[in-house]
Amino acid sequence: MELPSGRFRAAPCRFGHDRLRKTGLHFSAPCSKLPPIMALMPEPTPTLQQLLAFYLEAGVDCALGDEPINRLEEPEPVPAPAAARPMAAPSPLRPLPAAMPAVPRSEITVAPDAAIASAREAARTAPTLADLRALMETFDGCALKHTATKLVFADGNPEARVMFVGEAPGRDEDIEGLPFVGRSGKLLDRMIASIGLDRRSAYIANVIPWRPPGNRTPTPQETQVCLPFIQRQIELVNPDVLVTLGNPSTQALLGTREGIMRSRGKWLDYDTGTRTIRAIATFHPAYLLRSPSYKRLTWQDLRAIAKALQPAT
Ligand code: URA
Repeated sequence: MELPSGRFRAAPCRFGHDRLRKTGLHFSAPCSKLPPIMALMPEPTPTLQQLLAFYLEAGVDCALGDEPINRLEEPEPVPAPAAARPMAAPSPLRPLPAAMPAVPRSEITVAPDAAIASAREAARTAPTLADLRALMETFDGCALKHTATKLVFADGNPEARVMFVGEAPGRDEDIEGLPFVGRSGKLLDRMIASIGLDRRSAYIANVIPWRPPGNRTPTPQETQVCLPFIQRQIELVNPDVLVTLGNPSTQALLGTREGIMRSRGKWLDYDTGTRTIRAIATFHPAYLLRSPSYKRLTWQDLRAIAKALQPAT
């Protein structure tokens, strides 16, 4: 369902005092300047649509399970086993948590080091992009997979001479299963069009192929687990030019610790293990949407990329 956005904006109370309303819901703290009779008036129950709009504005835009979990509920204390009672064990400061609900086997997350090792092994053995994709569909070492809707593998032409790599899919990409199809993707399309490219002449992927819930930043561990897959993807596509979009993919792939302001626009070597590829970082289109003044520098980077793709004369 398409939720209305912006229809239930925060507004001051009708007396112009405290903010009593946000996204159409009444907060329970009453405005201190309200006449006492109004402060006691029952608050109308929000409609389902208002409630969803409130969640959406608060950044909650996906459901992670069918059953809600009340995390504020006091856990039941676990009774000590009968045999242990005479030992008079020191009482815990807080009651022990109740047993965790059973987790489906497919959602058990592998220990980080084991997950990284198994991602490396799986990626190394994938002979083609189709095999790599199939491996990633069955890979269980990254918890992001269980909250994402779809694997976002790649888009564009695997024969392309240039490959663009972003950070992680967002909401639109998660729904479509394709990278850069939302607002920042539209800008990326315009950026590459400015140097005569499109999705038939470029290849596009992300370091992380599953959307982090609520678009949160991927953890360093999630990045490490997913890294072997994008590295293998780069090796299989084997482009002449690799372009990292934004800081996270630049740091993950090009091994630099510098921020994007310093790392962008410089040619670096990317070693696939079988070949050295020319690599360059530029700003992420999502950043350019927020800070359009950096488009000028991005244009310089794009011209450098276009020049590198020109056949040698
Ligand atoms: N941002 C990214 O880094 N990748 C996408 O696919 C979309 C937005």
